[in-house]
Formats: sequence, structure tokens, C-alpha cells
Amino acid sequence: MKIDSPNGKLGVLIPGLGAVSTTFIAGVDAIMNNRTAPLGSVSQMATIRLGKRTEDRNPKIKDFVPLANLEDMVFGAWDLFPDNGYESAANAQVLSSEDLEAAKPTLEAVKPMKAVFDRQYVKKLDGPHVKKGATKMELAEQLMEDISRFRKLNQTSREVMIWAGSTEIYIEAGDVHSSLKKFEAGLRKNDPQIPSSMIYAYAALKSGIPYINGSPNLSVDVPAMHELADEMGVAIAGKDFKTGQTLLKTILAPGLKARMLGVDGWFSTNILGNRDGEVLDDPMSFKTKEVSKKGALDYIFQPKVYPELYKDLYHKVRINYYPPRGDAKEGWDNIDIFGWMGYKMQIKVDFLCRDSILAAPVVLDLVLFTDLAQRAGMKGIQEWLSFYFKSPMVAPKLYPEHDLFIQLTKLKNTLRWMMDEEPITHLGHEYYDGYQ
Ligand SMILES: NC(=O)c1ccc[n+]([C@@H]2O[C@H](COP(=O)([O-])OP(=O)(O)OC[C@H]3O[C@@H](n4cnc5c(N)ncnc54)[C@H](O)[C@@H]3O)[C@@H](O)[C@H]2O)c1
Repeated sequence: MKIDSPNGKLGVLIPGLGAVSTTFIAGVDAIMNNRTAPLGSVSQMATIRLGKRTEDRNPKIKDFVPLANLEDMVFGAWDLFPDNGYESAANAQVLSSEDLEAAKPTLEAVKPMKAVFDRQYVKKLDGPHVKKGATKMELAEQLMEDISRFRKLNQTSREVMIWAGSTEIYIEAGDVHSSLKKFEAGLRKNDPQIPSSMIYAYAALKSGIPYINGSPNLSVDVPAMHELADEMGVAIAGKDFKTGQTLLKTILAPGLKARMLGVDGWFSTNILGNRDGEVLDDPMSFKTKEVSKKGALDYIFQPKVYPELYKDLYHKVRINYYPPRGDAKEGWDNIDIFGWMGYKMQIKVDFLCRDSILAAPVVLDLVLFTDLAQRAGMKGIQEWLSFYFKSPMVAPKLYPEHDLFIQLTKLKNTLRWMMDEEPITHLGHEYYDGYQ
């Protein structure tokens, strides 16, 4: 497959300069200056087996596919608060003062552009640094002007946009999202079914820039955007970074299913106290997150195929805003399982995690892999990046793949295919032989 070289600078455009994006930027700075290894990043640390096991070819992914260099990334952002990256990171309280000070020049240099924001879609937020425009189309045009200014100023050769803004209220795909023509008419008529995140997505795609959706918002997961991505020849990916509790769910559930153990209850609850938690305290934003979080188990367990094991599964997800915890979330799971002759057992998981620390390497990998896909001419939904999402986007009529290990195989096989190497099916080997 022909892949353009990653020459020149890669602009990383981020709507939402909050906890996740500032932790990502500070981490990239720390990696580049040898203050840390790229922990948690598959693109930087993982190896990939090529050919037969006897060939002993296991390069690092970053030495196998032509990824952009971290040194070539330049950051741009939008936010409804005017705080620069350093001020925002300090406010998010994810990083120690030592790590924060070390990354200060890089973080400080990211000064957010004015946001496209409407409180109607995020009830718990309000800020002064917001664009004005008579129509949503005008706001999209202002974003496109921001993008061209950013390009000129930074002399980038290409860009990727990744949404790290807040979770908006729940919106279902409707008539206005059904075709590009209807969507553009909706932008001109200020259709209420078009939230801010979709205006960014439209501006990115119209500017020929791939768009990655880190939140559960609908954004590019509608026919109008698929049409635009196709027309402009750009890659899209989403939705909702798979980080804490859902990551563990998609690690554990495939294991239980692999051994044909039944599950009749999975209760998940979280306490978190960051701004994301505050936004999710609004039932309308929580609904968007809940839908995203609940999909995984149904697809992994296939209750229609295995009714004796999973048809009665009661799955409940709760998120509780609890300020004292800040970004250090705690996620509990109680899993009621049953085995041989129906005897019941329980599993308890207590994950004391850090939301943004888990999300930052996911942002890095998604930016690098999406840029790679774009240079390889792979337009539209990048299903091979499902590995990184709670609610993976798929082509219409297909079902999403949630099993983390199938997702990893798919990701690595796509990389092999891009580089004209044979896919690995593990036929003739034990299933997981340590060299995925
Ligand atoms: N592990 C994780 O942290 C994780 C996992 C999955 C998804 N996410 C999602 O990633 C997003 C970011 O999470 P976070 O913890 O950094 O939240 P955060 O609240 O710290 O940051 C979000 C930022 O986006 C800004 N914002 C909101 N609407 C905007 C708009 N229309 N334009 C520009 N800026 C806007 C807010 O002012 C805020 O600064 C959220 O949607 C969250 O649900 C996070």
C-alpha cells in the first residue's frame, strides 16, 4: 500500500483544553525531553510480530509503520475558558507541580481560540470565551478561518482534529443528520439537533482534516458526516475513549465468555470529582455517557447466541460526582456469575484509577494512527481503531466489535496489511502465543 511520508509538521487541533488534553500535551513534552517513557502508548511501546514465529521478526510498531515524529506535533485548541494550557492543567489537578512546571513552556504556548459553545447542550458549563454568529453555518466558517490561520502560523503540512471537549446532552440521529444537504440547510437554519461538537466536526471535514471523537457525542456518527468524509476523502473515528471501567469490562467479559461462565448481573458505579464528572452530573449528559458505556457487554456476551448464560444479564452503570476525588476516579464493579450446575459466584473489582492518565496515551495513539490512515488514503470510518473506543463507530448494518483482544488483532492486522505483510490468524498455533 502506498503511504505518504510524514514530512513536515502535524497540527493537532483539540476542541476542549481540559484535563485530558493538557495531560496529553504535558506527557508528549515529557517524552520528547526524556523525562518519561511513553507508558500506556501502543503506538510507541508495543511490538508487532511479522511472518512466521520462527522468523523472529518483532519490530516496535513505531519502527514498522511511518508514524509522525512527536517532535513534529504542534498543538492548537479551543475552549470556552480563556486559560492557557498551563493554567488549565493546574486547574485540573492531574499532574504534580514538578511535572507541571517541567512542561510549563509547552503548555503555556497553547492559548485556546474562542469556542463554539451553547449551554443548551452542556447544562453545567458556562464560560466567556465564546464565538458569536447569527447561524451555526457562520460559526462553522469562523472555525474554518481559525484552522487556516493556525495552518499559516505554524506552517503545518497536515492536521488532525480530536474532540476532548465535554459530553453533550443525548441526541439521536434524525432527519437533519440524514444527508449532507439537509445538514447544511440545518446549519443555516440553526437546527437545534445540531450541537456544538457537530459544528467542529463539520469544519474539520470541510477543511480536509480527519476528526476523532473522544466523547460519546453523536458528532460524526451520522450519515451526513459519513457523506462529507467520503466526499472530502478524510478519515473519521469514534466514539468515547475506552479508559477506566469500560476498559476493564472489555478485558474481563471476553475471558468469562471464553470459558462459558454465565453472568446474571454486572453493577458498575463510579465516583469522580473532575469537571467531566460535574458535567456528567446533569442527567442529559449522563444519558449520552450511559448509552456509550452500556453497549459493550451486550455485544461481547451475545445473549441471543448464548441464552442459557447471558439472557438475564442485568447491567447497571452509575456515575456519581464526588468533588474530593478530583481526577482520581474510583470505579467499582460487582459481577454476579454462575458456573457448573448453576452455582453462583461473585467478582468484585475496585479500580482506583486516574482518568486523564489513562486517556492521554489513547489520545496520542489515535492522533498518530489517524494521521497514518489519512496518509494511506483510508477515508471514512476507521473501524480498526475500535480498540480505543467505548462505543466504536461502524459502517451501517455492521455490529461494533467490543472484545479488546479481537480489537487488538484487528488493529495489528490492519497495520500489517498497510505494510504488505501477511495478516496473522493464529491458525496452527495456540490462540494467544504472546506475539499478537
Ligand atoms: N478517561 C477519561 O478522562 C475520558 C474517557 C472517555 C471519554 N472522555 C471524554 O473526554 C472529554 C474530555 O474529558 P476531560 O476529563 O478532559 O474533561 P474536562 O471537563 O476537564 O475538559 C473538557 C474541556 O472542554 C471544554 N469544552 C466544553 N465544550 C466545549 C466546546 N463546545 N468547545 C470548546 N471547548 C469546550 C470545557 O470548558 C473543558 O475545558 C469528555 O467528553 C469526557 O467524557 C474522557
